[in-house]
Amino acid sequence: MFTNKQAQELAHKYIPGGAHTYSRGDDQFPSNAPAVLSAGKGCYVWDVEGKKFLDYGMGLRSVGIGYAEDRVSEAAFREIKNGNNLTRASEIEIIAAQKICELIPSIEMVKFAKHGSAVTSASVKLARAVTGKNIVVRCLEHPFFSYDDWFIGNTVVNSGVPEDIQKLTVYFNYNNIDSLKRIFESHKDKIACVIMEAVTTVEPCASTYFPGTKKHFLHDVQHLCKQNNSLFIIDEMITGFRWHNLGAAHYYDIDPDLITFGKAMANGFSVAALGGKREYMERGGIHHQHERVFLTSTTHGAEMCGMGALVETINIYQERNIPEHMWSYGRKLTEGINGIAKDLGIEKNFFLSGIPCSPIYSTLDKDLNLSWGLRTLFNQEMIKQKIIMAYVSISYAHKESELDQTLTAAKTALKVYEKGLNDGFEKYLQGHILKPVFRKFN
Ligand SMILES: Cc1ncc(COP(=O)(O)O)c(C=O)c1O
Repeated sequence: MFTNKQAQELAHKYIPGGAHTYSRGDDQFPSNAPAVLSAGKGCYVWDVEGKKFLDYGMGLRSVGIGYAEDRVSEAAFREIKNGNNLTRASEIEIIAAQKICELIPSIEMVKFAKHGSAVTSASVKLARAVTGKNIVVRCLEHPFFSYDDWFIGNTVVNSGVPEDIQKLTVYFNYNNIDSLKRIFESHKDKIACVIMEAVTTVEPCASTYFPGTKKHFLHDVQHLCKQNNSLFIIDEMITGFRWHNLGAAHYYDIDPDLITFGKAMANGFSVAALGGKREYMERGGIHHQHERVFLTSTTHGAEMCGMGALVETINIYQERNIPEHMWSYGRKLTEGINGIAKDLGIEKNFFLSGIPCSPIYSTLDKDLNLSWGLRTLFNQEMIKQKIIMAYVSISYAHKESELDQTLTAAKTALKVYEKGLNDGFEKYLQGHILKPVFRKFN
């Protein structure tokens, strides 16, 4: 077995960036964080030396029930023993497809894949094929949709993407319908689709919603798309299986043409989905009169262990109403931590906000500017108390005792934060400063 140091060195020797996801990289965690993990159970993870941490990363939000949930694991094992990948569509793949179509109101047909980028890219391709238009409009405040060219070419990390492709994606701003109207006007009859998440937790965009009023920004976006014959695509990678069992589109009472899911839908197993209206989705099929769309087609797209995990995950979500727990825990966490910050007089410089089921924390300096140094300091002090909290992803496994543990740790961490705020964080920081994932140079 390795020591932590050996594991980290090997990771960088053999893998560019030391991990297969940039948000798992060393630049996203303080230097005292475990660089490599070996196991997870519930909401805890263990490093390679056997040290245990309370985790708020939850596999980049892919685990909603808890790590190594027995029922999900057993459902996956069952399918592994059934062969895991057969020559024609598997029975469990059909059961999973039916389950998703019956569960999510706007989904009449579905195609599964192994990761989110594949399905968001497929949604864009389908929109272009259906509309015969090329321009993709994405929401700027949503940090990530795909590592494919159509999206990443429109970010600062656009190296390797031809300029002609970069120009085909443009952006608008959340909660600013005029910014979208302007794009529809300046690219008249050229817009294939608008792709966005239902909500953003980036302030000041974490908008308030009044259920039943249909007066959400999303309704205006949906209306503009209809008016301009462009498809409306909602990416539920983060909001799905978190905002509501039926998804955030249901929660916000919208009816997108296409929806993408991934992350927590199979409690950590590799499953993503593109779903939507039959009239569009069936173009990816083989029994229609239109020109064919080669939508997604991969050897492992509906790997049976993932399909089994997905079906059992949905069963558990329906039995236990997991999102309700996430909302409730998030509210208590937000209230608790913000109370501690207030007692210390630093409530303007450190606070939790956003949507309760998925809170975000802000680390601001004395001039109220975002401070990566203070963010690192808070992370470092939480790690000292065996809590990984680079961001806040709540699971069903986070219970009262974890809440108590977190609030106790936050009290200690925020006392150091206060000192860092007043005396300079450099005095208390032990290693490198965190950096944003999306940046042009190292
Ligand atoms: C909103 C959103 N869409 C798409 C993706 C891509 O998903 P994946 O990492 O499974 O390819 C992510 C991943 O972080 C995401 O947050």
